[in-house]
Amino acid sequence: MRLEIFRCLCVQLAIPLLLLTQTSSTETSAHANHTGCCIASERSALVRFKAGLSDPENRLSTWRGDDCCRWKGVHCSRRTGHVLKLDVQGSYDGVLGGNISSSLVGLERLRYLDLGGNSFTGFQITEFLPSLHNLRYLSLSSSGFVGRVPPQLGNLSNLRYLSFGNNPDTYSTDITWLSRLSSLEYLDMSSVDLSNIPNWLPAVNMLASLKVLILTSCQLNNSPDSLLRSNLTSLEYLDISFNPVPKRIAPNWFWDSTNLKHLDVSWSQFSGPIPDDLGNMTSMVELYLSHNNLVGMIPSNLKNLCNLETLYIHDGGINGSITEFFQRLPSCSWKRISALDLSNNSLTGSLPTKLQESLTNVTSLLFSGNKLTGPLPPWIGELAKLTALDLTDNNLDGVIHEGHLSGLARMEKLLLSGNSIAIRVNSTWLPPFNLTMIGLRSCLLGPKFPLWMRWQTPIYLDISNTSISGIVPDWFWIMVSSLDSVTMQQNKLTGFLPSTMEYMRANAMELSSNQFSGPMPKLPANLTYLDLSRNKLSGLPLEFGAPQLEVLLLFDNLITGTIPPSFCNLPSLKLLDISGNRLTGSTPDCLVNGSTKKTRSLSISNLNLRNNNLSGGFPLFLQNCQQLIFLDLAHNQFFGTLPSWIREKLPSLAFLRLRSNKFHGHIPVELTKLANLQYLDLSNNNLSGGIPKSIVNFRRMILWKDDELDAVLNFEDIVFRSNIDYSENLSIVTKGQERLYT
Ligand SMILES: *[C@@H]1O[C@H](CO)[C@@H](O)[C@H](O)[C@H]1NC(C)=O
Ligand SMILES: *[C@@H]1O[C@H](CO)[C@@H](O)[C@H](O)[C@H]1NC(C)=O
Ligand SMILES: *[C@@H]1O[C@H](CO)[C@@H](O)[C@H](O)[C@H]1NC(C)=O
Ligand SMILES: *[C@@H]1O[C@H](CO)[C@@H](O)[C@H](O)[C@H]1NC(C)=O
Ligand SMILES: *[C@@H]1O[C@H](CO)[C@@H](O)[C@H](O)[C@H]1NC(C)=O
Ligand SMILES: *[C@@H]1O[C@H](CO)[C@@H](O)[C@H](O)[C@H]1NC(C)=O
Ligand SMILES: *[C@@H]1O[C@H](CO)[C@@H](O)[C@H](O)[C@H]1NC(C)=O
Ligand SMILES: *[C@@H]1O[C@H](CO)[C@@H](O)[C@H](O)[C@H]1NC(C)=O
Ligand SMILES: *[C@@H]1O[C@H](CO)[C@@H](O)[C@H](O)[C@H]1NC(C)=O
Ligand SMILES: *[C@@H]1O[C@H](CO)[C@@H](O)[C@H](O)[C@H]1NC(C)=O
Ligand SMILES: *[C@@H]1O[C@H](CO)[C@@H](O)[C@H](O)[C@H]1NC(C)=O
Ligand SMILES: *[C@@H]1O[C@H](CO)[C@@H](O)[C@H](O)[C@H]1NC(C)=O
Repeated sequence: MRLEIFRCLCVQLAIPLLLLTQTSSTETSAHANHTGCCIASERSALVRFKAGLSDPENRLSTWRGDDCCRWKGVHCSRRTGHVLKLDVQGSYDGVLGGNISSSLVGLERLRYLDLGGNSFTGFQITEFLPSLHNLRYLSLSSSGFVGRVPPQLGNLSNLRYLSFGNNPDTYSTDITWLSRLSSLEYLDMSSVDLSNIPNWLPAVNMLASLKVLILTSCQLNNSPDSLLRSNLTSLEYLDISFNPVPKRIAPNWFWDSTNLKHLDVSWSQFSGPIPDDLGNMTSMVELYLSHNNLVGMIPSNLKNLCNLETLYIHDGGINGSITEFFQRLPSCSWKRISALDLSNNSLTGSLPTKLQESLTNVTSLLFSGNKLTGPLPPWIGELAKLTALDLTDNNLDGVIHEGHLSGLARMEKLLLSGNSIAIRVNSTWLPPFNLTMIGLRSCLLGPKFPLWMRWQTPIYLDISNTSISGIVPDWFWIMVSSLDSVTMQQNKLTGFLPSTMEYMRANAMELSSNQFSGPMPKLPANLTYLDLSRNKLSGLPLEFGAPQLEVLLLFDNLITGTIPPSFCNLPSLKLLDISGNRLTGSTPDCLVNGSTKKTRSLSISNLNLRNNNLSGGFPLFLQNCQQLIFLDLAHNQFFGTLPSWIREKLPSLAFLRLRSNKFHGHIPVELTKLANLQYLDLSNNNLSGGIPKSIVNFRRMILWKDDELDAVLNFEDIVFRSNIDYSENLSIVTKGQERLYT
């Protein structure tokens, strides 16, 4: 009854409008249209659906008022008023969560349901869905659903589109129900665990209308050699990547799918050479074969693939000459090819000096990690659409001139690191591009600062070991100040660092092995890693100003003065190496404000103060460095007795070197009870008395030579993110150059 009244209201509303407009053409269309009308029972189904949801971003704020057809994501039939489509897909402006009410069953005519991209975390894929037998389109993808995929979905015989991809905790043990979805054109079951289905292909082969099949990360463990009678003649898009199928790439059933436009079998442990069958797949547009164990050259009949645009075969064993590779690319598709990624293979030889035709549409050329030699050919400069050129870690050489670069107006990523390429451009040359990534490690850019970089605004920059010398110009520091990570070690950069680096964005800076002099400035506020070792710096800042700093490498500079008390304000510091400087005075005590005994808690695990002129007693601040593993105070002027608190306060200590100081008194027994101690060097002090008997209990230390590997492993953990090899240090001292105790 209520329903009838409600519909009545809608019709009555429509009539006055008609009278006003009068013209007969709008009259007929208005009759056919059912504007502004919502069926009451469906409205209440939606209200109950909404009530079960959590909607923190208030995405369903328009779900108010009588006319549910005007609610966002709800679409009704203009003729009957029934809800036909419900699209509440999550997006950047928010996701829904909570429970999906079975009240949706009330939307009997529903043809389209999209619940994807939300966060129904832990919710079982609902068993009521199969009652929505009119559904043509069902998407439950990426929404945190869990549990078994209900076989009742096989009742949705009208489905054209079915996706429950990207719900990692779902599984199925039987997919025979799929065969009842005879109209299905699109199936995405990616990340559904299908590992318990011994033979998944026959069920899929019943889907004669299938155009798109996505079974990535399904833990499929078999891929039959062939389909005796393939039904999958409409299949255009196949993605079965990230399934561990350790077998040869041919024979394999998918080579029969000659209508494929998109094939992705990357990360699947396939081996052997790419078969000639590929040459029959003349519709192919995008081919992804990366990260398998494929060997040999691409097949010669690849030349038949006149629609090819994208070829990804990175991380494999593709070998042979790069010239042959280019010759085998289909010349009929030269003008279409947009991306070639052959990174991390074994291609050899020089890039061809000439191409048959220009690759006019190419946007990315990725050949890093091969064995390419010779110079960069001039045709690179004609690739007007190129945005990414990655030739990192080859053996290329030769010189790049303006001519190689002037035509590359769209270039964003120029990655040539690890080659001996020289870049020689006129100092007045202005590049046409605006790079986001510049990787030129070990190329030859210097000796002058590369002026062409002046107006670039990269987010990634590596110009380490590029033979640049001289003072860093101001414009360069300005560019550097917006980088996340700065890599310019191993040059001959001179002069002072900027007077403050406080406002720089960087969280990591590699400036080692240059000739920077003067004082170290206040550091970037968000810095976590700084390597300024092997420079000529003369002083430490009063305030470090980088409270998140974890690694600070300042060894082999000319730093004088004392370690400032602000060192105690680096609570995250794990690794400090300031060895090989000219520091004097005693170390700061790091006392907690107002306390005379309590020291601040520090995270330091690795402290190297060797080779300075530091004095004073054994550092007091170490009393609150529970995580200390490596301590080297050798070759300083430290004096006094060794503290008995070592064992209690430094329980993890493994490496302790105090040689060549002025410590005196007895060796405390506590020292010998340190459970993890593996290396102890107390030589060249004024310590008296004998070696305590218990030192014999240093099992690991006495068995040092056999345990060397063990120690190396341990120390690799400590020296995280550092490019200094402490393990090497360790093995040098243990190879008998320094005695344990004299
Ligand atoms: C419904 O109204 C729209 C204009 O709002 C019109 O374009 C459409 O043709 C109408 N539908 C029918 C079936 O008359
Ligand atoms: C979803 O259902 C569970 C169990 O029935 C309940 O605890 C939870 O509060 C419900 N969530 C919402 C948003 O209604
Ligand atoms: C789904 O199909 C099964 C048979 O496979 C049938 O028993 C069941 O009643 C159907 N469920 C619905 C909701 O139509
Ligand atoms: C091909 O599909 C049809 C219709 O779904 C089915 O009847 C037939 O058994 C399938 N053929 C094979 C070889 O699976
Ligand atoms: C590819 O075509 C060749 C002949 O052109 C044929 O011998 C071969 O069987 C075909 N391979 C497939 C997988 O269809
Ligand atoms: C390519 O690799 C395969 C398998 O490792 C090898 O048999 C073949 O000789 C190699 N070809 C070239 C040109 O290096
Ligand atoms: C070149 O690429 C564009 C898209 O970037 C595409 O629209 C166009 O069709 C391509 N040209 C050819 C000849 O394929
Ligand atoms: C190539 O290998 C390097 C080192 O293993 C790796 O970092 C890089 O991601 C690989 N490149 C591609 C495209 O996978
Ligand atoms: C550099 O460019 C300027 C202006 O384009 C030109 O006058 C000069 O000759 C060029 N120098 C060299 C060495 O090419
Ligand atoms: C380069 O791009 C950045 C943003 O990506 C922009 O801020 C900057 O103005 C651009 N510079 C030039 C010279 O086009
Ligand atoms: C520095 O670059 C040169 C020239 O490319 C190279 O030979 C050398 O190995 C590089 N050094 C390091 C440490 O990368
Ligand atoms: C440091 O990081 C915070 C949070 O990510 C950011 O808001 C701030 O702008 C950063 N500071 C600098 C100097 O980049």
